[in-house]
Amino acid sequence: MATQADDVKREEQITQALSQVEAHASQLKSGDPEARQKLIASARELVTAAETPVETLLWNIWALPTRTTALRIAVDLKIFETAVADNGSPKTNEQLAAPTGASPTLVKRVARACASMKMLDEQAPGVYAANSLTQLLAQPEYAAGIIFTFDMTQVPFANLPTYLKNNKFQNPENGVDGPFQYAHKHEGHAFHFLTAHPEIFQAFHGYVHALRTHRPSWTEMYPVQERLVQGLKTEGDASALIDLGGGVGQTLQDFTKAVPEYNGRLVLQELPEVIGAATAMGVGADNRIELQAYDFFTPQPIKGARAYFMRSVLHDWPDELCRKILANIKDAMEPGYSKILISDCVLADQGASWQHLSLDLYMMAQASSQERTEKEWHKLIESCGLKIAGIYNKGDGNEGLIEVVCE
Ligand SMILES: C[S@@+](CC[C@H](N)C(=O)[O-])C[C@H]1O[C@@H](n2cnc3c(N)ncnc32)[C@H](O)[C@@H]1O
Repeated sequence: MATQADDVKREEQITQALSQVEAHASQLKSGDPEARQKLIASARELVTAAETPVETLLWNIWALPTRTTALRIAVDLKIFETAVADNGSPKTNEQLAAPTGASPTLVKRVARACASMKMLDEQAPGVYAANSLTQLLAQPEYAAGIIFTFDMTQVPFANLPTYLKNNKFQNPENGVDGPFQYAHKHEGHAFHFLTAHPEIFQAFHGYVHALRTHRPSWTEMYPVQERLVQGLKTEGDASALIDLGGGVGQTLQDFTKAVPEYNGRLVLQELPEVIGAATAMGVGADNRIELQAYDFFTPQPIKGARAYFMRSVLHDWPDELCRKILANIKDAMEPGYSKILISDCVLADQGASWQHLSLDLYMMAQASSQERTEKEWHKLIESCGLKIAGIYNKGDGNEGLIEVVCE
């Protein structure tokens, strides 16, 4: 039971949080671009201050899993695609159910949960209209994100407590015998699972790229001109910017637009299955980007390149395997010229952003790996005889860019 003292304390917290919300809202109105994120954070503080502890608990244990599941089912029911048809005009449960032949009662139960998440507008009992979020969710690459995160990770998440208990609560660090393999009854790394399920892998690359178009690119945070373009040797291997584990080449394609003056080679190194998918998509057809099937656990064939870039690669692997990947690059580097560029999360030591903390547990469940703090990055890089020359960031919750050199 809340005491009078608890009530007084909560009122004080609400007043304080409300004044933060007002302050950030007014900064936003006066054109400060960073105020929007601050406003979201202070609005969350306000909700927490206004809720009782039990309401906060129920939100986390009732609302969150329900929402994720309803969203995943809504994609299969094509609720968002159907809702946006005919210019998003209002539709009944029966109309939303028609394309899949699902039960209108089932559709009603899922659609009203989606409306509670603002993913549809509920205009009358059992009548829904599309809004801007519905429009986003109706696009295949965003729906693919829902499918990928649910199908790849929710099963390992559901099994994680039992897995950890069975393993005496040790930190998972084995990428081929960990929570993912236990939950999916799969032998081999999660990437092995993905290469065996090309439709999920393709969905993964599409959604990851779609999300990144909403976040600052590494070329916006790193002084590309000063650190890469100036001093570039423009012939042969020395001219190369290599994207290791670069997916289907979207990062390099974006790079050609962001830094057109980079006139060295651009090379995508990936697993053969992913190179096949990139080729089928026409990447490399204009000869600007070279495609090379390569396993980064084997010696790097391009020696003395300008930059060995990796985005969201090292967070897939525990330290021991990261050291193998980095050793192969180090052996190929020209000291004083080549750089390793790592685009990954740099977790704050305290009060880390929810995006980084979520990804950290995603990585545990999917790959027995982790996100790293600045201290952990230093320890990992220095244990390979390499040195961090700089860490660049733009905004809380985004990936940072770590420049590594070899002396
Ligand atoms: C998390 S994804 C990141 C993809 C891309 N860099 C991006 O940010 O969108 C990791 C990539 O590493 C690739 N990969 C995994 N194991 C690899 C290996 N042994 N050699 C080369 N690439 C590998 C995967 O195919 C996958 O595309």
